Amino acid sequence: MATKNKKEYKDLLPRLDYSRLPKHIGIIMDGNGRWAKKRLRPRIFGHRAGAEAIRAVVELGVELKLELLTFYAFSTENWNRPEEEIQGLLKLLKEFLIKEIPELNEQNIKVDFIGTETGLDPEYLAEICALAAQTHQNTGMKVNIAFNYGGRLEIIEAIKRLTSVQIQELTVDNFGQYLYTAGQPNPDLIIRTSGEYRLSNFLLWQSAYSEIYITDTLWPDFDKMAFLNAILDFQGRKRRFGGLNNE
Ligand code: FPP
Repeated sequence: MATKNKKEYKDLLPRLDYSRLPKHIGIIMDGNGRWAKKRLRPRIFGHRAGAEAIRAVVELGVELKLELLTFYAFSTENWNRPEEEIQGLLKLLKEFLIKEIPELNEQNIKVDFIGTETGLDPEYLAEICALAAQTHQNTGMKVNIAFNYGGRLEIIEAIKRLTSVQIQELTVDNFGQYLYTAGQPNPDLIIRTSGEYRLSNFLLWQSAYSEIYITDTLWPDFDKMAFLNAILDFQGRKRRFGGLNNE
């Protein structure tokens, strides 16, 4: 129940313009390590809490009928972390999928991975892909898990797959069809937690005209209220796409 002092996210819902919701929101989930450190716990403890935070954001996404959420779970640069943390993250992702699949299916959510296969243990990759495939019949909100993902590598891998004819016919408008996100809308909004002002190789091509929202909140503390505040902030912006007055 909402009280005088504690605002609930539902109190903010009437301020939302449902006709101008972002179709695709990308989320850079930063600050798990600092969250754990504050509690004198190992970094993986922060990642576990971070996985829980994904739930609330996905729930609100479904409530608002958003089209697509992309979570940056593991970057191609994250292999530089200590082996123990890497193994912990790989294990966590698999456990997270196993645990959440019934609820994802209940909510009609389709999960896909975006990222490179390079560097991944094929057995592990087959396991997590088989888990995600259990949601592929769903027709509601889509969730991309950016896993072993790097925006620069995505562009290079796309170019390497092109034939010389395709290269000749390449345009700014058709290049997106060769990326991992082929057929999906570009992100209208990118959220980054923990007060860092960087894209960190996330959706580099797709983010050309994304609005960027940065909050000091550490990812494990990012809840429905924080998510809704980010969307409300987005709705207060004027998007001009390089022109003068698109809106
Ligand atoms: C950044 O925090 C976060 C990550 C590198 C991984 C994000 C992973 C999760 C939220 C959980 C696993 C994902 C799924 C889909 C189950 P950081 O470690 O860089 O934090 P710091 O900057 O405070 O050190």
